[in-house]
Parts: sequence; C-alpha cells; structure tokens
Amino acid sequence: MKRIAIFASGNGSNAENLITQLGAEEGYSFPLIICDNLQAGIWERGKRLGVRCLHFSRKELSEGATACQLLKEEKIDWIILAGFLGKISGPLLEEFGGRIVNIHPALLPRFGGKGMYGHYVHEAVLQQREKLSGITIHFVDAEYDHGATICQVTCPVYPDTDTPDLLAERIHRLEHIYFPVVVRDLLQRAD
Ligand code: GRF
Repeated sequence: MKRIAIFASGNGSNAENLITQLGAEEGYSFPLIICDNLQAGIWERGKRLGVRCLHFSRKELSEGATACQLLKEEKIDWIILAGFLGKISGPLLEEFGGRIVNIHPALLPRFGGKGMYGHYVHEAVLQQREKLSGITIHFVDAEYDHGATICQVTCPVYPDTDTPDLLAERIHRLEHIYFPVVVRDLLQRAD
C-alpha cells in the first residue's frame, strides 16, 4: 500500500481527481491533505471526500519540522503537490526528496519559477504567442518548478482566439486525464 499525502493551496480539482481515481484502486491510500491557505476550495473537497485536511503555514512547510514529523508518523510514502504554491525545502525535502511530485500547467523549463502559477502562466503563454502549451509532471527539488521531468503532455494554443480562461480549461482537462495515469505508473515502478 502506497500512502500519499497531497499538498494543495487552491481549488483542489487535481487533488480530488487523484483521490477519487487512485483511491478507488487497490494499493493507494490518501490519508492526508496539507493546505497552506485557509480560504482554499480544497477544504470543502477534503471534507466531502472524508480525507483529513490540515493547515500548515508556508513557512512551517519550507523550514519547520512539525509537518515532516507528522508525515513520518502517518507513514507517508509519497507527497503529491496538486496546486501547491509554497516551496518545499528543509526537513521535508531532506526526508522525502525523490518522492515528491509536482504538476505544472505549462511546458517547463519555460513559463515556470516563482510567481508563475495559475492565470499568470497562461497569460504569459498567450502573450508570447506560443503555439503549444501543456503540462509538466516532475520531481520536486529545492527550486520552484525545477526538478527532473517525469512526463510532459502538450496541447495546442490558439493565440488569436484563446483567453487565459480557455487555455486554463484545456490544460485542466489534460491534467485530469494524465496526472493519475503518471502517478500510478511512477508508484508502481517504485519500491
Ligand atoms: C493546476 O493547473 C496545476 O498544474 C497547478 O495548479 C493548478 C491547480 O488546479 N500546479 P486545481 O487546484 O487542482 O484545480
């Protein structure tokens, strides 16, 4: 059984999708959601899904040891960042490095890094008149949006007619299809 903690800061649609898809299969359990934003939509989703949802400050998650200790006590094997905006460093990265995965709504290394999240990403892609965007699923290291790529999937961009919202929708559809597939494949191959 692979025990997975989800970190999220926002709406949580990817978190819910992972939990409902993989959580229904044998071999995956989602005992914990960690959230750094008390206003986030993920709280309502966590409640509805019956998954324990806990708040930690962004500072605690990047520097402190309390969250890391809790994840160890909960025997968490993997951390999945699903719309988590904080930086992972300190004890969490030391303990779980190589077992932390993020999803980014663009084709890294372009359109990533600090401040590149949500509509900022899609606005930048449209401003550059890109013909392709997509998703990047990657390991997490000490820099924002930087660790080794696990998988990228592309989708078209229509710079003349797209809006950031339309592009965001297209990207979300890709995420909801591919994130569970990639996480399942990765965890099946892991010890
Ligand atoms: C996704 O687009 C993901 O790529 C990015 O944050 C967004 C989260 O969306 N890291 P949601 O909260 O899962 O709906």
